[in-house]
Amino acid sequence: MEHPIYHALLFGPPGAGKSTQAEYLMQHWNLAAISTGKLLREQIAAGTPIGLRVREVLARGELVDDALMIEILRAWLAAISPDNGFLLDGFPRTIPQAQALDEILAELHRPLSAVIDLRLSVSEAVHRLGGRRICYGNGPDEIIHINDEAAIARCLERGGLLVQRPDDLPNVIVKRLAVYEAETEPLINYYRARGIAHRVDASGERAQVAARILSAVEGIDHPPPVW
Ligand code: AP5
Repeated sequence: MEHPIYHALLFGPPGAGKSTQAEYLMQHWNLAAISTGKLLREQIAAGTPIGLRVREVLARGELVDDALMIEILRAWLAAISPDNGFLLDGFPRTIPQAQALDEILAELHRPLSAVIDLRLSVSEAVHRLGGRRICYGNGPDEIIHINDEAAIARCLERGGLLVQRPDDLPNVIVKRLAVYEAETEPLINYYRARGIAHRVDASGERAQVAARILSAVEGIDHPPPVW
């Protein structure tokens, strides 16, 4: 099915499901997508100068400085073909980042068309993040929840290793949620005033959340997709 070329961003607290939904939406809407958190973790894993510079910042649950994040985004956006839409997951997180994004998109003549504002309770976010483990080794990485005994058994059977993100430790989750509330959440007013923000309930099954996003942005009812 043909879709408009979306210039969209996913907004929401840690654990809201931004990256989970980004993976689905980029396929569905044929978008280039960037997760700034994932990109930073890749830099850390590879031990690059950027990785060394930001490792402790992520481990503390704080935000990386605006200048570096804006430089990363500018380079990424400039490389996207005009025929391709894009989806930002985790950017902007501060007012200076939002202002810089506007300037970059104005230069590129690619204004934002949708802001997807995922809403989730603190208790559900803590449940998702506190229980998140990544199964590494002998196959693709798999994200699982510690309550999912079948997934844990599958991971161990394939010889995988269960790893916790350093910023998913309880004290860091609390810090990340506080940073979100103080520095990022107020940004939604910046976009709401323009009439491009869509508030979406991010609780429930992944497919239900995806259906709510599609329905809100496209303005027509969607059933939950096969996940
Ligand atoms: P980032 O990786 O973006 O972390 P975050 O925003 O804290 O978000 P998460 O990745 O934990 O959650 P998410 O909303 O993407 O949800 P997910 O789909 O993963 O950033 C990490 C760090 O990088 C930041 O703290 C900061 O230091 C730095 N950084 C990044 N961007 C920056 C910027 N612009 N400026 C400055 N610093 C920046 O899902 C979470 C869990 O829930 C998963 O286990 C998933 O499987 C599960 N889940 C998802 N949906 C559902 C569902 N519907 N039901 C049940 N479980 C679900």
